[in-house]
Amino acid sequence: MSEYVLELKDVNFKYDNAPSIEEPALKNISLNVRKGEFVGIIGSNNSGKSTICALCNGLIPKSIDGEFSGTVKVNGHDIKDYSTARMSQEVGLVLPDPEAQLSQLTVYDELTFGPSNLELPREEIEARAERILKLIRLENFRDRSPFSLSGGEQQRVAIASVLTMNPEILVLDEPTSNLDPLSTEEIFEIICRLNREMNMTVILVEHEVELMAKYVDRFVVMDNGRIVLDGTPREVFSHKDVFEQIRMFIPTVTSLAGVIDEEYRKWGRHEYPITLEDMYEIIDSGKE
Ligand SMILES: Nc1ncnc2c1ncn2[C@@H]1O[C@H](COP(=O)(O)OP(=O)(O)OP(=O)(O)O)[C@@H](O)[C@H]1O
Ligand SMILES: [Mg+2]
Repeated sequence: MSEYVLELKDVNFKYDNAPSIEEPALKNISLNVRKGEFVGIIGSNNSGKSTICALCNGLIPKSIDGEFSGTVKVNGHDIKDYSTARMSQEVGLVLPDPEAQLSQLTVYDELTFGPSNLELPREEIEARAERILKLIRLENFRDRSPFSLSGGEQQRVAIASVLTMNPEILVLDEPTSNLDPLSTEEIFEIICRLNREMNMTVILVEHEVELMAKYVDRFVVMDNGRIVLDGTPREVFSHKDVFEQIRMFIPTVTSLAGVIDEEYRKWGRHEYPITLEDMYEIIDSGKE
């Protein structure tokens, strides 16, 4: 058994109908993810983040045409050997637009829809739906039409319907991009709970870098089809030059500490803060 739930090795991919003729969307990507890890993928537009998501659940190379080379393994098995149905049980994919992922008349039907195609006993399907309704706090929405819900509620249903497949890895591609700040925090809180309490492996693509920094174990930073940084939030944000080069912002508190660097070091601090909570702690310790 491999120590990684997901292994990408030397992956190159070029879309057949890519707007640019020369450039592959992914260039020599290698990435290993451990069970229970929470990985945040960030990077500029068109850097290949969504393409990585499509790789993780086998859409690439199975359903999207292009030139592919390299290997993708889930739980130690090459995804070439997995059927599409099997892949949906290994990797759950949540997309930016929740409405596009919903199709059923009620929230409950949405949750049982995926597992119903797996030829599982009815009791097992119902037990899964009940468990996930509770977990994602959707009990009160059980009989509602998913289309009558707010964007944030819809995204919770979309996440719940993916979870009823019992995936090993949860991949979310900008799940909060259409949501208001409150719903965004709520979705982050759910994802975080799945990761911390249920040891679910999570790969999250997001633009909300500051919010992500609070939760992820690790950031993978992409630019132009390549991984340019890979490490803990503190490690990656210490490479201010790389962020400048790829025209991405680092968290405000981190850049602020950089601006007042000399003063900051007088406080006896060597590591920059990453989250607002870090900053509060530093300010509090200065008061003592
Ligand atoms: N279905 C597709 N067909 C052809 N080219 C595509 C397709 N999807 C993405 N591309 C191209 O592949 C490259 C990587 O795109 P990708 O969508 O993976 O980037 P991204 O980092 O997710 O960008 P964004 O931040 O805008 O979501 C881009 O040059 C894009 O134009
Ligand atoms: Mg994208």
